[in-house]
Amino acid sequence: MTKTANLDQKVIAIDGPSASGKGTVAARVAAALGWAYLDSGALYRLTALYAQRQGVSPENESAVAQLAQQLPVRFTQEHIWLDDEAVDDAIRTEEIGMNASVIAQWQSVRQALLQRQRDFLTDQGLVADGRDMASVVFPNARLKVFLTADARVRAARRAKQLGLPEEGDAFDGILRDIEKRDEADRNRSFAPLQADPDAKRLDTSALSIEESVQKVLDWYRQI
Ligand code: DC
Repeated sequence: MTKTANLDQKVIAIDGPSASGKGTVAARVAAALGWAYLDSGALYRLTALYAQRQGVSPENESAVAQLAQQLPVRFTQEHIWLDDEAVDDAIRTEEIGMNASVIAQWQSVRQALLQRQRDFLTDQGLVADGRDMASVVFPNARLKVFLTADARVRAARRAKQLGLPEEGDAFDGILRDIEKRDEADRNRSFAPLQADPDAKRLDTSALSIEESVQKVLDWYRQI
């Protein structure tokens, strides 16, 4: 076995659609195990933000791939930095989420971000969340989870986060955005969002965060 394959034994890969709660679950599983946490979507969002700041269209594959390669990003305990700016909030807007979904379809962009994601893995262990953690980035992960929730449940969770009612025009807009992003992420040619054949499926529609975290920890401990 290669060194990387050995290290991958200390990886839990959690993939799933947007707003499925996988980020929260992955971060809490990492904290429970004392492992590091990779939010791979943040790298796609950072690239989308960097492109926007540089006046580069998300549709311009080669220019975006070049920016992805040079991405001046730093992760510290407190913040995510792009150059000297803390961009924790700036990368979380719906607009940047949509642009991230556009740039994520480009293979050269995905390639440029691949090693950066693998570099998060140390002896300490890693919980990684995204769309292709199990299929591409950590194919030898010890545990693979495909975490989903019904689109309306995800829209309701997002609305609650934003302090908006869980019905009405704003809610319908959020639901449409979620469905549009699902569609784009599922149907792209490279590393589309899909459950890895080895992944255990976890539908969190009727589960609390604590129950979801517990389920993943139980699976890990049973291996
Ligand atoms: O998880 P998120 O919503 O922060 O991800 C933002 C976008 O990045 C998402 O629409 C798809 C893309 N993405 C991806 O293609 N592969 C990943 N591993 C993570 C995110």
